[in-house]
Amino acid sequence: MKLLEIRDLDVRYGHIQALKGVSLDVAEGEIVALLGANGAGKTTLMRTISGLLRPHAGEVLLRGAPIQRSSADSIVRLGISQVPEGRRVFPTLSVVENLRLGAYTRAVAEAAQTLEQVWTMFPRLLERREQLAGTLSGGEQQMLVIGRALMARPRLLLLDEPSLGLAPIIVRDIFRSLRQIRQQGMTVLLVEQNARMALKLADRAYVLETGRLRLQGSAAELLASPEIQASYLGHGSGASLGASDAG
Ligand SMILES: Nc1ncnc2c1ncn2[C@@H]1O[C@H](COP(=O)(O)OP(=O)(O)O)[C@@H](O)[C@H]1O
Ligand SMILES: [Mg+2]
Repeated sequence: MKLLEIRDLDVRYGHIQALKGVSLDVAEGEIVALLGANGAGKTTLMRTISGLLRPHAGEVLLRGAPIQRSSADSIVRLGISQVPEGRRVFPTLSVVENLRLGAYTRAVAEAAQTLEQVWTMFPRLLERREQLAGTLSGGEQQMLVIGRALMARPRLLLLDEPSLGLAPIIVRDIFRSLRQIRQQGMTVLLVEQNARMALKLADRAYVLETGRLRLQGSAAELLASPEIQASYLGHGSGASLGASDAG
């Protein structure tokens, strides 16, 4: 059984249909990338999985059980944590306070153990343990929101554009931590503008185009696909999806 299955999902904002008949799945231990231009519906899909949006039709199944009518809070308790777009830290709380808030569903002793793992993964956060989160750099704030999501010990981690707007050297740091997360056996659904780096990390990928699934395959197949190369990989190493805006 798949960890996550999405079946024929339709999501609307009023009369705007943001997702049309989208189906995808994620197996335990996989890293699956979700690619697509701005406005393709990637964030809409993430917010629907985490219970922040209600689908008009279709199903979201976690280990076979439908969750598309569950509250966002109960979905966190079922083991799905989302790192939303835009690195929203609690700016007037310290680094360690931000992390502890991520563990609100868990017992204190267990959370302390996970905190040690987060410090190991992000030593820069440990160095800045008492610093107010609002004074961190963009890259450090991204590490903090990833760390905060890990504090819930999710079965499935949803990451929405973790590298957006960060300098290349910081992006490499973020991807290095994503590789560590994968080594720990966590399952990840990753939305990324940087298609090349995402496909090098992921096992499989889906490409959304204006709310519909356009392509899917193994990451290696998609990296080699002429269509992906033309539309999404461009020339050089820093190519992103912005240039092929389908919206
Ligand atoms: N709150 C909203 N109200 C109305 N339309 C929205 C809202 N959020 C997103 N949309 C529209 O839904 C579509 C998909 O958006 P989104 O999921 O944010 O795409 P992506 O994350 O791939 O850039 C776009 O056409 C966008 O304009
Ligand atoms: Mg988005």
